[in-house]
Amino acid sequence: MDSVKILAAALAPVCGVDETAISDWIEVPKNTEMGDYAFPCFRLSKTMRKAPNMIAAELKEKLELPEGFVKCEAVGGYLNFFTDKGAVASTVLSRVLKEGDAYGTSTEGNGKTVCIEYSSINIAKPFGFHHLPSTAIGNALYRIYKALGYNTVGINHLGDWGTQFGKMITAYKLWGDKPVDDYSIRELVALYVRFHDEAEKDPALNDTARAWFHKIESGDPEALELWTKMKDATIREVKVTYARMGVDFDSWAGEAFYTDKMQPIIDELREKGISKLDHGAEIVDLSEWNMPPCMIVKSDGSTIYATRDLAAACYRKETYDFSKLLYVVAYQQDLHFKQFFKVLELMGRDWVKDCVHVNFGMVSMEGGSFHTREGKVLYLDDVLDAAVEKTYEIICEKSPDLEDKKSAAEAVGVGAILWSVLYNSRIKDVTFSWDKVLNFDGETAPYVQYTHARSCSVLRKAGTLPKEFDASLLDDPESTALLKAIAAFPEAVKSAAEKYEPYVVARSIMQISNAFNRFYYEQRIMADDEAVRAARLALCDATRQTLKNGLNLLGLIAPERM
Ligand code: ARG
Repeated sequence: MDSVKILAAALAPVCGVDETAISDWIEVPKNTEMGDYAFPCFRLSKTMRKAPNMIAAELKEKLELPEGFVKCEAVGGYLNFFTDKGAVASTVLSRVLKEGDAYGTSTEGNGKTVCIEYSSINIAKPFGFHHLPSTAIGNALYRIYKALGYNTVGINHLGDWGTQFGKMITAYKLWGDKPVDDYSIRELVALYVRFHDEAEKDPALNDTARAWFHKIESGDPEALELWTKMKDATIREVKVTYARMGVDFDSWAGEAFYTDKMQPIIDELREKGISKLDHGAEIVDLSEWNMPPCMIVKSDGSTIYATRDLAAACYRKETYDFSKLLYVVAYQQDLHFKQFFKVLELMGRDWVKDCVHVNFGMVSMEGGSFHTREGKVLYLDDVLDAAVEKTYEIICEKSPDLEDKKSAAEAVGVGAILWSVLYNSRIKDVTFSWDKVLNFDGETAPYVQYTHARSCSVLRKAGTLPKEFDASLLDDPESTALLKAIAAFPEAVKSAAEKYEPYVVARSIMQISNAFNRFYYEQRIMADDEAVRAARLALCDATRQTLKNGLNLLGLIAPERM
């Protein structure tokens, strides 16, 4: 168990404050001479009506030192605690080495289902760079929740419905020159652009498009076939991009899937008097909550985005009986989520409290938005390709002898891009710069991946790993700091899930990487003393394992050589 928790459990009864609060108050002193953990007593001076230094002295008398701790000192207003380094080192190392790939996982989620909706791209539209945050954050949360034992359902709520498909079919019928299955996304987008150009000169095209959309809606076989094929072509292509990023889904049920599931919702809203007619449209008035009305049915009888979201939420509850439903969607849609969550509440769906809009900020390219200079959307694939190419050059320079440079470049290039949206709090806007994301010495994925490869290389050179080691030999400051960082990893995984923030895992493995590199430079791992060498190699192996687990949880590959 984590030392902070053990300490908090021992302090709680003598302070009369609950354990979680105490856990939050416990600090890790910068200077190890001040102990491994410190408890600031001024937090108690209000309730205990005493000076912090008196409280510290009093607590020291009352407290029985918990297991794993060897000393407690009252200094100023602080209680400083010293751990039994050998015992802690031995517990941490044996746990990591025993659990292996499972280090950081738990069973806390067993029996519970979490649905996570992410990426949710639009059919026949570019898979753009702006889809990166939802895709990367959603995938990381999916892996993190799975690791915590939850039954996880990854959903790609495809944007596959709407009048634009009438336009697509019109354009294809007029200008298509090969089977629709053979169209790439870029070619489909080109058709769409051409439609808009031509419709400016010939507005009658819009009527044709409307007619085609109506045909899709009413189940006309030709219209349905064309629409399905465009959708299949898009999915086939994006699956390749998803695979590069280690992304997968359990369900591809998009907006169209809910076509026949909206009527019961519309009826219920009417019957319960929640919706009302307004200029021929059906809306839910939300002025009481200071929000604009939520549109349910437009005056021309068509349903919209929000109606499909209401149907989707109800369907997911019935189908998966989730204990949580997460929507990883940009903050631009904050209002939309507030509105339809409120409508669900008005409908008496008390489980709406388990629905969370996991929002995030904007990504932009340095010196511009995520659009290219010509105002065109930047394709995510192009960004990944460019990253891999640049990484390949760096690797050729740094490791000319590496055998499989191509796959290392793919893992590191793609990893660098994913990391750019995983290392900070979601809501922060991200300005993307090549120099920043590909800096092998910065706070980047390549740096963590490189550290992992370095630990692999040390172990490779050492040959066989000693089975037995004396962890108490790891008492130098660098080893101690590294052990502490490794020990904190499982808690980071838990906290990332609680906050819906993958960055907590990213920061944890960054800390481990920093600590390992300090250890690597300050201490000779291949020490002359055999016992010391064995202990340091075990620590190196635990580092390798934890970095690998952390990278994988974020959807990144941990190459053994680079
Ligand atoms: N396809 C939408 C877009 O690209 C995102 C869908 C978000 N999810 C939802 N359930 N509304 O803007």
